[in-house]
Amino acid sequence: MSAEYPIARPRRLRRSPVLRRMVAGTRLHAADLIMPMFIKEGITEPQPVASMPGVVQHTRDSLRKAAREAAEAGVGGLILFGIPAVKDARGSAADDPDGILQVALRDVNAEVGDAIVVMADTCLDEFTDHGHCGILTPSGDVDNDATLERYASIAVAQAAAGSQMVAPSGMMDGQVGAIRAALDGAGYGNVPILSYSVKYASAFFGPFREAAECAPQFGDRSTHQQDPAGPLNEALREVRLDLAEGADAVMVKPALAYLDVITRVRDEVDVPVAAYQVSGEYAMIEAAAANGWVDRDRMIMESLVAIKRAGADLILTYWATEVARRI
Ligand code: PBG
Repeated sequence: MSAEYPIARPRRLRRSPVLRRMVAGTRLHAADLIMPMFIKEGITEPQPVASMPGVVQHTRDSLRKAAREAAEAGVGGLILFGIPAVKDARGSAADDPDGILQVALRDVNAEVGDAIVVMADTCLDEFTDHGHCGILTPSGDVDNDATLERYASIAVAQAAAGSQMVAPSGMMDGQVGAIRAALDGAGYGNVPILSYSVKYASAFFGPFREAAECAPQFGDRSTHQQDPAGPLNEALREVRLDLAEGADAVMVKPALAYLDVITRVRDEVDVPVAAYQVSGEYAMIEAAAANGWVDRDRMIMESLVAIKRAGADLILTYWATEVARRI
């Protein structure tokens, strides 16, 4: 027996919950989590998002309450998406000081701004009537440089409304540099930029289009978001450019289908790396769980641990408040 008898037995360290807890290599902390929230102008009751059970479009009141709950659970940050009552071709509501997102930023900051990082998604698709992330040329392309001017103005409006960080998500070339220059010029040199540096043209954003009412009226986002099958080091090129332009933290999005990309980015940069567990990732697990096909709570935790283990320091997830309470 002795010759073949295993001396090394990995199972020893797995024998009990306390042993497993002590040797864990990946730990989730509530402060690592960022909760995305939707605020819709002109509604009196929160509106459920059918494709994201448990997620709502908030009223001003329900948003304040949800923000307080997130803060009390210890969630690190929240990121706001605004849905205006009126949309136009240039997304005028996005940088209106009285636009819904700015109103919500002031509300939430007053409520919990000292207990949680309040930030805004800096983009145009929720605000344009055509649903694209920028200004269109007559032929219907997104005009990169005309869009940069809009993003710069939006970021300044968000900072003026108290956004503690801005998060440009439109994948325009030069967006971080344009926003950095505008913030600095307007006296907001201390407002950091979390750049959605690596964002794929993903089907996993599907349910978000309902939540944020921003489905493009024609075409898609594949001329600016990255091709899932694109050049292997394209993600690294995007993060290097963003860092050179002054990004303070970078993001990979979606998360679960791009764990390899998270790891590559983590190895490349020396700033915090965020990953966004997007609407489709949320919907898949909720839908399967609603059918009784999977163990919902375990699957949520396993997916978050995987994203963290891949190298994400921060995770944007619609389960942030729930998970923060559990850990
Ligand atoms: C753009 C934006 C999108 C998401 C976050 N910011 C939509 C898109 O790029 O098409 C998607 C988030 C999700 O799917 O949960 N403002």
